[in-house]
Amino acid sequence: MEKKVLLAENQPEFGAGLLKALAMDPSDVVGEIRDSGIKGRGGAGFPTGVKWSFAADANSSVKYVICNADEGEPGTFKDRILIEKYSQRLMEGMSIAGYAIGGSKGIIYLRAEYPYLIPAIEKARRTLTDRGLLGENIQGSGFNFHIELRHGAGAYICGEETALIESLEGRSGMPRNKPPYPVISGYLNKPTVINNVETFCAVPHIILNGAEWYHDLGSGECAGTKLFSISGDVGKPGVYELPMGAPLSDLLELVGAEDVQAVQVGGASGTTVPASAIHRALSFKDLPPGGSVIVFDNTVSMIDVLDNFMDFFVHESCGQCTPCREGTLQLQKAIEMIISGEIHSLEELDGFFKLARVMKTTSKCGLGQTAANCFVDIISNFTDFHRDNCSHEGDE
Ligand SMILES: Cc1cc2nc3c(=O)[nH]c(=O)nc-3n(C[C@H](O)[C@H](O)[C@H](O)COP(=O)(O)O)c2cc1C
Ligand code: SF4
Repeated sequence: MEKKVLLAENQPEFGAGLLKALAMDPSDVVGEIRDSGIKGRGGAGFPTGVKWSFAADANSSVKYVICNADEGEPGTFKDRILIEKYSQRLMEGMSIAGYAIGGSKGIIYLRAEYPYLIPAIEKARRTLTDRGLLGENIQGSGFNFHIELRHGAGAYICGEETALIESLEGRSGMPRNKPPYPVISGYLNKPTVINNVETFCAVPHIILNGAEWYHDLGSGECAGTKLFSISGDVGKPGVYELPMGAPLSDLLELVGAEDVQAVQVGGASGTTVPASAIHRALSFKDLPPGGSVIVFDNTVSMIDVLDNFMDFFVHESCGQCTPCREGTLQLQKAIEMIISGEIHSLEELDGFFKLARVMKTTSKCGLGQTAANCFVDIISNFTDFHRDNCSHEGDE
């Protein structure tokens, strides 16, 4: 099979994508992103071009572009590497978004635990400004774009886009009701595009090389490439880029994973699969990729892993809605009862599986909607309480 040149191996001069975009009509820029098929790399996988088109169509003289650099999902560290190495590419992607939707202000919301990245971001901003690629009247085009750096609040929930906006506006990071979606009424009630670091970094590549080129980097219906932060029981942990749709086994081979018991794809809120499922595809249709892949070998107690993740959700739930606030506590209690031997049968877990479904369907935001995923997967696949009909696989 022909080897595809991935984004990491194909690094054009910073600014070249923006210059090309500025010579295009903004609606054609949106069209190129839409046709590329790129879906947001922050987890939910919403089509980026569709998001931008909503914001472009919104009737407002003020619009915002926000980069979600909160990166709080356990096991995820790809955005940190992108910011370290490619802050200029990130700002270029944000500027292209601003041009496409008719906005002139960008904000990078940086994870509170990443203060050491601030110099890299400041340096990139200075360099782009000095080169006339950021600020007023960029390259004489009449397009103005400024980027501000804001520090995160140190809570996982602030990565949820409406909680992030609340945090930016100076309030506690509590998710808002949706609709209205941020593209219609976001930061300061203005139309706002929020994308992940990796999404913005891909944008200049798409503009320079074309929608078809990007689309064809992926396989099947999944466009482009994807970064994975891999940790756990592997020989070579780190950040890897693969075509979207690649089988999980390709990734495990690259990182030297042996004696695999379980792989968690997409972080604590993602999907946990047994070794027998490594043929499955890293794609929004099969194993939604998010940013994190954690490998557990056969020495690991998966119920302890589950205990750990549920503690995380209990701690990080913002407490605003009952299914999530109380549901995570109840699931934590069930896990403790399994560990202490107080639960002996599947029947005793029935109510907790029902609760997991209620949390999924009635929680207000993605945290509560996905917090039970690890409970369902790990209990179903890695304990004696097998329950084949309760998987959440295929959910998005
Ligand atoms: C609890 C929670 C935490 C999230 N954390 C992040 C994050 O750290 N970074 C991120 O890009 N998206 C995060 N998201 C997803 C964002 O809400 C949003 O979908 C994303 O920033 C959109 O960008 P994209 O379309 O480029 O993926 C989180 C979602 C939830 C529910
Ligand atoms: S689902 Fe959880 S994190 Fe989200 S609003 Fe409800 S309580 Fe807060």
